[in-house]
Amino acid sequence: MNKEIFVPAEELAKQRDFMKRCRELLVKRFGDERSPLAYVKSFGCQQNVSDGEKLRGMLAVMGCGFTEDVNSANIVIYNTCAVRDNAEQKVFGIMGLATHQKELKKDLLIGLCGCMTQQKHVAERFKMRFPAVDFVLGTHVLHRFPEIFYGVLASADRGKRKRAFVIDECDGVIAEGLPEVREDSVRANLSVMYGCNNFCAYCVVPLVRGRERSRRSADILRDARALIEKGYKEITLVGQNVNSYGKDLENDLTFPELLEAINAIPGDFWIRFMTSHPKDCTKELLDTIARCEKICKHIHLPVQSGNDRVLGEMNRRYTREQYLSIIDYAKKTIPGVSFTSDIIVGFPGETREEFEDTKSLITEVGYNSLFTFIYSPREGTRAARMDDPVSAAEKAVWFNELLDAQRDIGMAQFEACVGQTLRVLVEGEGKLKNGILSGREGREGDCVLMGRTEHGMVTDFFGPRELIGQFVDVRITEASNWALAGERI
Ligand code: 5AD
Ligand code: SF4
Repeated sequence: MNKEIFVPAEELAKQRDFMKRCRELLVKRFGDERSPLAYVKSFGCQQNVSDGEKLRGMLAVMGCGFTEDVNSANIVIYNTCAVRDNAEQKVFGIMGLATHQKELKKDLLIGLCGCMTQQKHVAERFKMRFPAVDFVLGTHVLHRFPEIFYGVLASADRGKRKRAFVIDECDGVIAEGLPEVREDSVRANLSVMYGCNNFCAYCVVPLVRGRERSRRSADILRDARALIEKGYKEITLVGQNVNSYGKDLENDLTFPELLEAINAIPGDFWIRFMTSHPKDCTKELLDTIARCEKICKHIHLPVQSGNDRVLGEMNRRYTREQYLSIIDYAKKTIPGVSFTSDIIVGFPGETREEFEDTKSLITEVGYNSLFTFIYSPREGTRAARMDDPVSAAEKAVWFNELLDAQRDIGMAQFEACVGQTLRVLVEGEGKLKNGILSGREGREGDCVLMGRTEHGMVTDFFGPRELIGQFVDVRITEASNWALAGERI
């Protein structure tokens, strides 16, 4: 393993020192009567959410409080996603508003980080088109936020505003021990590895997140124990391709062994993981899921397409048959297992017949739900250079057909739960959507609670607020194609 991947302890100590110095400058800027308020908004995947939590952690050490209301913030940071064009457009739209906010509030500090900023052409656009932006951090320099932020604060303090644009071109690093302020107090994401080596033809992630690198299992296990001690009830192991965990480590655990070790930590909690690449989803992993009682019997296994030619062009390195044989093995070895998946509609050159193969595959697997996307060309990827003759209108027709097909498939999965008693982890108050529970009333003092089953199915029921953050047995009485409702036992 390349030791240089780990950010040295001296560098992290230097950043801690910058956090103190930022704190002093922030007091000078905003006074010491109240903490400056930071608004940190993360778009996209769990990895970004996890980075956002580290930014909040560093800001908290600098003495900041947090707000969900962007208008009341003194520091605004957007942690961006580059996976599809619509995610990027959203951020460009927000930047227009941020420019306006800065006109109203001159000392507002605006920063950008995440996958969009790691692309040179996008960072350049932020620099030229949005003068309101004070700093831009690429994905590989997140741990240097204190130093970079200090530079921005100190220059403003001297009356000479200096913007910072720091985008390091490297294969990625691992910075252990950064402080964190988590968004949720029931469910926690825990990064186990970073980056991706797969280079799927459509995907920008390997270009912006660097090569695969795994955290040491001792560090992960220490974090997992701490989270469980704090009372977290669900831990999701996060990585772009968790099945590759440990391949770059010497004398350390494989992903199934890591799961087994976390499962052995005492306590009542659930373990999830995402995302698994089908080409690396081994029988050993599936046997581990079957064996470990704390691992949810639900697998998110993105298939992307049900057609072999398209899968080949996507560089997915498995066939439809191989994918289906994994699903088959999982169904045989893990009683009650359920699946979700990601699908791309309208990959360059995909034909109507090839799309039909995706439709037949989703019926064959019987997913609980799908994350479906219309193909979005990403600069620098192989697919962006391919011929793409099918019109956007036609792709939209296919996309809607897929949603319709999944609606029926999902409905069957959800309806099969009616009459069963399922364990639900209560996340918060529910919203009573879709007619579920309509016309019913709970006992006095009860509210509508929302939780999820181990299969990730949203479940609403009446109960007291104190149940939030706990496991509750719910007898399922109603189902829609995306949610369940029931009665607390
Ligand atoms: N266009 C559309 N969808 C994409 N995804 C990744 N890249 C693209 C793209 N260029 C989808 C894949 C992936 C999910 C996270 O996002 O389905 O699994
Ligand atoms: Fe992108 Fe493929 Fe890596 Fe997933 S496995 S992040 S889709 S390149």
